Amino acid sequence: MEEVKHFTSVQDLTKEEMMRILEKSETLKDKLAKGEPHEYVYGKTLGMIFAKPSTRTRLSFETGMTQLGGHAIYLGWDTLQLGRGETISDTAKTLSGYVDIIMARIFEHENLLELARNSTVPVINGLTDLLHPCQAVADLFTIWEEKEKLSKLKLAYIGDGNNVCHSLLLGSAKMGMDIHVATPPGYEPNENIVEDAKTQGAKTETVVNIGRGPEEAAKDADVVYTDVIASMGDEEEREQRLKDFQEYQVTSQLMDNAAKDAIFMHCLPAHRGEEVSAEVIDGPQSVVFQQAQNRLHTEKAIIISLLGF
Ligand code: CP
Ligand code: NVA
Repeated sequence: MEEVKHFTSVQDLTKEEMMRILEKSETLKDKLAKGEPHEYVYGKTLGMIFAKPSTRTRLSFETGMTQLGGHAIYLGWDTLQLGRGETISDTAKTLSGYVDIIMARIFEHENLLELARNSTVPVINGLTDLLHPCQAVADLFTIWEEKEKLSKLKLAYIGDGNNVCHSLLLGSAKMGMDIHVATPPGYEPNENIVEDAKTQGAKTETVVNIGRGPEEAAKDADVVYTDVIASMGDEEEREQRLKDFQEYQVTSQLMDNAAKDAIFMHCLPAHRGEEVSAEVIDGPQSVVFQQAQNRLHTEKAIIISLLGF
């Protein structure tokens, strides 16, 4: 039996496969703008398991499947028997008998891998506590659209060393874009991910730098990126985090360190006045809504690539 392809991490794709997904996203975006039908997965069904809230991920996958001629089913964790203790492996085996592809947003990354191991249809990671690979694909696509290249650009990530930061580290290193991360003490990205990004970066001659100073990270950057201070699941630490991240807000002053034509990015949802000032996120350098909208095109390209169309 042919091995099922999953998308649990940016690491599941080669550089060439990632590039093909970006090119496919561009074609799909163009087709949609021209009103050209592109029902590449006609009659196929996507099952979407959500254990955490979502606006963009749900909308992009669900709308994307409709535009591709397929159908998507929203499966809230607590509306499934999963919420009453049915195992992940039994759920994966059961879902595989009904749907053609699964997307899951869950807490523990290990549970996502367990789902994939037991599924006979492709599984897409729609965010775990460790990774957010679909976001990274949309981010790379947006940067590529804006800068017409990825290689040799500099991305500065200021803030929490979280799931979004991890997938950006892996995605940047893969595509040859230098990445400089600045976090407060205690909020550094996962060591294994940094190690993987550095190993990848050595092959693509890419700088992967983890430091403290936001100004230093942002210096001459082409892209300045931040994410929330408290991710889903970190809410109890919110007050402490607000104190710890005081020096890490992306402000106009910080943007002044970046290249003149630098863009500001954020995966959203955002908290103005916390990780970013309103002036920056609502200002002329911000591409956050283009970035969010691009999720639609990149999710469609990911689905098509996994289903082999
Ligand atoms: N960026 C992102 O994944 O947004 P949602 O949480 O709204 O899906
Ligand atoms: N780091 C954030 C991303 C939300 C899309 C979280 O996990 O809540």
